[in-house]
Amino acid sequence: MSAASVEFELTDLIDFAVNQGNGVKGLSNLGIKTIPQKYILPPEDRLNQNQIAQDESIAVIDVSNWDDPKIAASICEAAAKRGCFQIINHGIPLEVLENVKEARHKFFELPDEERRKYLKENSPTPTVQLKTSFSPLAEKVLEWKDYLTHLYIPDDESSKLWPSVSKDQVLEYIKWAKPIIRKLLELLLKGLNVKKIDETIESQLMGSLYVNLVYYPVCPNPELASGAGRHSDISAITILLQDDVGGLFVQGTKADQWIHVTPVKGALVINIGDVLQIVSNDRYKSVEHQVTVNGRRNRVSVPIFVDPAADTVVGPFPEALESGEKPIYKHFVYSDYFNYFFSKGLGRKQTIELAKK
Ligand code: OGA
Ligand code: NI
Repeated sequence: MSAASVEFELTDLIDFAVNQGNGVKGLSNLGIKTIPQKYILPPEDRLNQNQIAQDESIAVIDVSNWDDPKIAASICEAAAKRGCFQIINHGIPLEVLENVKEARHKFFELPDEERRKYLKENSPTPTVQLKTSFSPLAEKVLEWKDYLTHLYIPDDESSKLWPSVSKDQVLEYIKWAKPIIRKLLELLLKGLNVKKIDETIESQLMGSLYVNLVYYPVCPNPELASGAGRHSDISAITILLQDDVGGLFVQGTKADQWIHVTPVKGALVINIGDVLQIVSNDRYKSVEHQVTVNGRRNRVSVPIFVDPAADTVVGPFPEALESGEKPIYKHFVYSDYFNYFFSKGLGRKQTIELAKK
């Protein structure tokens, strides 16, 4: 399978990329000139140059002084209007960020046999798993990405079994990110007049952190493929570190316009997820976004999805309804929402419809 014009039958492709754990990286390494059919987006789902907004950009908020009320106001405003912003001067040392990006490199450069130890059926713990695409057995079109996903639960010891080449860097990044996550949630909840902030944050909004080391390999036909289809995250918020390659786009003000999230050195991208939209009864908006792929450079991103614990009951907070608003959403157990999201292909903001009354 080394010829430049390898053609895959679908079953062979799934076997090679998914079951054997070679992923998109394996395909990219074969030196193929054309991507397999299963990765080709229908024309209407491709992001064209003329859909890229020229007159809108994503706010970059300097958080060096969290206590400044102007900062809180900009964060709440960005969460309400766009559902996405970047933060700088957040206090995580650049070295910690560089190390976690490098950890992605180290993991994916492991010999095939070592990497395969983290496929679902082999992994020493369910809290770490090597994956490709979003939900490869459910999707019509596969995504041009591979990732190592980690579930971090406070007081859970299973992180000891994460890959030794990347575990320390991931744990160090989580350690630094946690106080920032708390601070962001605290400001956002204050904006909703929530009274029991500490308890609500810990017990309802950040019970599980999913950290992914994402690898978007160079793609021979970047205009035909996607790194992630249009979707909103189902988290409360997502904190995302990206390198300088670019490719993340968020929904613009006009329906068919997309804003590039320009990489800023040392910045973290914050996406509002469905859970925050639901608990705020639509005061805050989860942001629809997508990822394009690159023809010349590999890209890395490291999202932390800040999710409620699986058994948390999620629904509009009473404070968000105090002015007599009608609740837009039902109360539901978060694991049902989560399982539904992963049971189908990515589809815009489809999952949140499930939660509507
Ligand atoms: C995601 C996502 C964006 C990126 O993993 O949900 O949207 O830039 N990632 O990798
Ligand atoms: Ni996302």
